[in-house]
Amino acid sequence: MESHRSHNSVLSIVVLTWSIICVHFLTTSAEWLGDLSDYELASFDNPDILDEPQRRASKFNHFTLSDHGDVYVGAVNWLYRLDSSLKEMHNTTCDASRPDVMPCHLTNNYNKILVVDSTRPNSLITCGGVYDGICQLRQLQDIKNVIMESVSYVAGLEDASTVSLIAQGRNGKSMLFVSVTYTRRNVHGFRGITRRSLENDHNFLPAYSQEDEVQFNLNAKSAFFSIRYEEVFDYGGFTYFVASQKEDLMNSALFVSKISRVCQGGPNLDAYTEITLQCSGSDGSVYSLVQAAHFGPAGPDLAASLGLHADEQVLYAVFAKNQGATGTSDVTIDHSALCVYRMTDILDAFREAVRGCIQDGNTYSVDYLDGSFCSSFGVSTEAYLE
Ligand SMILES: *[C@@H]1O[C@H](CO)[C@@H](O)[C@H](O)[C@H]1NC(C)=O
Repeated sequence: MESHRSHNSVLSIVVLTWSIICVHFLTTSAEWLGDLSDYELASFDNPDILDEPQRRASKFNHFTLSDHGDVYVGAVNWLYRLDSSLKEMHNTTCDASRPDVMPCHLTNNYNKILVVDSTRPNSLITCGGVYDGICQLRQLQDIKNVIMESVSYVAGLEDASTVSLIAQGRNGKSMLFVSVTYTRRNVHGFRGITRRSLENDHNFLPAYSQEDEVQFNLNAKSAFFSIRYEEVFDYGGFTYFVASQKEDLMNSALFVSKISRVCQGGPNLDAYTEITLQCSGSDGSVYSLVQAAHFGPAGPDLAASLGLHADEQVLYAVFAKNQGATGTSDVTIDHSALCVYRMTDILDAFREAVRGCIQDGNTYSVDYLDGSFCSSFGVSTEAYLE
């Protein structure tokens, strides 16, 4: 607890930093052989009709679990509630009866956010890529039942990737943290990272521009600077985002993978910090584009073979190689690798990024974010970085 507090205190004065400090994956490799079907206990196939003229580019988008053990699936144009053995209990589809908005039989509605709202009983937040990225608060027990709708532009439209989770935010209140990719489709209303109130005042899921967002600057907007978010997780008072993107706006054309983080409970999100994630094979070839990630304990087997404690937290991330020379494009090819990172190494890299921002100043600022700067303070950094 003490150490979290000291992180918070340093980060609240360090504004929007980044670092070239890379976290390297664990080098020991381990292999398990087995038949995947041995692990299949139950399955669910989307019953939505497949052979209609516009085949779905991707049917499955997200799933989440409720405390009751029910499974919620967000698919293109459909939401499903399944029981714990994956038997379908309810479904609902998008509302083509609203003439004022994009009907989903013309524009597929991709599920962008699917989060159980732990702040109120029986509640599920769903957001789609149509209707200007608005969200619905639904009943867990009856997903057809929409209790309220949110403000616009919470989620990204169409192909704009979106990740989100609920964590303790401003004043210790639970808030929805959301990160959205900037594309040509969501120029209007775009905000990069937001922290949104779950309280039901006049609006649902509002974010206030000074306190609750990390925004791109005009150069990044006119260059359509794109950060493709794959995963989000919550650890020690920070929300972490895993993404692939260009290394920076002005100086580097290379595509890399990064983890960025914001301090959850701060008065604003200005303590944004990012680091680069590297994943390479034993032959030295680089897998530059992160495709998926999961944060959790190492577990006894992996821990034993990698020399970690079983309860040590690690980040599992799957990367793909890019087309052409390393890092020169964001088009993936059929070569992938799983890299595992110790959370302690990730935290060390963030500490180094913060130190660089305080001691070395503006070379550490993030060149695509609005108002990004690093400045040195007349204090001994050692005291903060302990
Ligand atoms: C949705 O639920 C209804 C009523 O239970 C059922 O008849 C229908 O087949 C379901 N549709 C899909 C696509 O699952």
